[in-house]
Amino acid sequence: MGKLFDKALANPWAALDYVVDGPLHPGGRESTEALLDRTGVGEGTRLLDAGCGTGESVAAARSRGARAVGLDRDPPADGIRGDLSHLPVQTGSFDVVLAECVMCLVPGRSLAFREAGRVLADDGRLALSDMVVAGEVPELPAPMSEMLCLSNTSDRTTLVDRVETAGFTVEDIRDHREDLLAMRDQIASRVDYEALLGRLGERGERLLAAIEDLEGRVESGELSYVSLVAHPR
Ligand SMILES: C[S@@+](CC[C@H](N)C(=O)[O-])C[C@H]1O[C@@H](n2cnc3c(N)ncnc32)[C@H](O)[C@@H]1O
Repeated sequence: MGKLFDKALANPWAALDYVVDGPLHPGGRESTEALLDRTGVGEGTRLLDAGCGTGESVAAARSRGARAVGLDRDPPADGIRGDLSHLPVQTGSFDVVLAECVMCLVPGRSLAFREAGRVLADDGRLALSDMVVAGEVPELPAPMSEMLCLSNTSDRTTLVDRVETAGFTVEDIRDHREDLLAMRDQIASRVDYEALLGRLGERGERLLAAIEDLEGRVESGELSYVSLVAHPR
């Protein structure tokens, strides 16, 4: 059991993909479609999905006729391998950069936001969704923090500041705490934390306490999920 758990921690995205239906972010396909609507993605839109994971959002954009490509440090077969802080793509070559539940994983983030701005055309749009936290970021083992998109998360004001400092004007910011609550329920219905972690002794008890703490923070609204659309200035 301990080995199984270590495997899940070594590859957090594969573990999350196993327990979540569809895209690896709160709100699933519906929230992706809403972001694509808000940024006018349709026939011929050149879209870069930055941190595309399994590529579900790329498929959603393509099904609208967009010329969509996914980039990830661990990309799907038809994606580009790369890091969000140094995008291996030409300046001004995209109409939309989509970044769902990924900027909160990039240390510093400012460089990644500037890179998103660099690769966008003048009338381009950034479609972003991210975890936000009010107060202190919960302390968790690194892989778990990564799986839950908490490794470099910040409060909502800091997120908006970082996007604006990178040269964007932010508009239309929305809160999606209900999506986070639904994702929590989906994972809890598929993973019996107590049975799984109960067999790991003291280490399992610590993780269980951390999960309970997180659940409480989602309930209280201290941890939330937001989306925004931004335009290069
Ligand atoms: C929570 S998943 C989200 C995946 C996808 N955007 C979605 O919503 O389904 C985060 C993804 O970001 C990728 N990632 C994290 N940091 C990255 C970086 N610095 N450069 C490129 N990809 C990164 C991970 O490999 C993972 O696929």
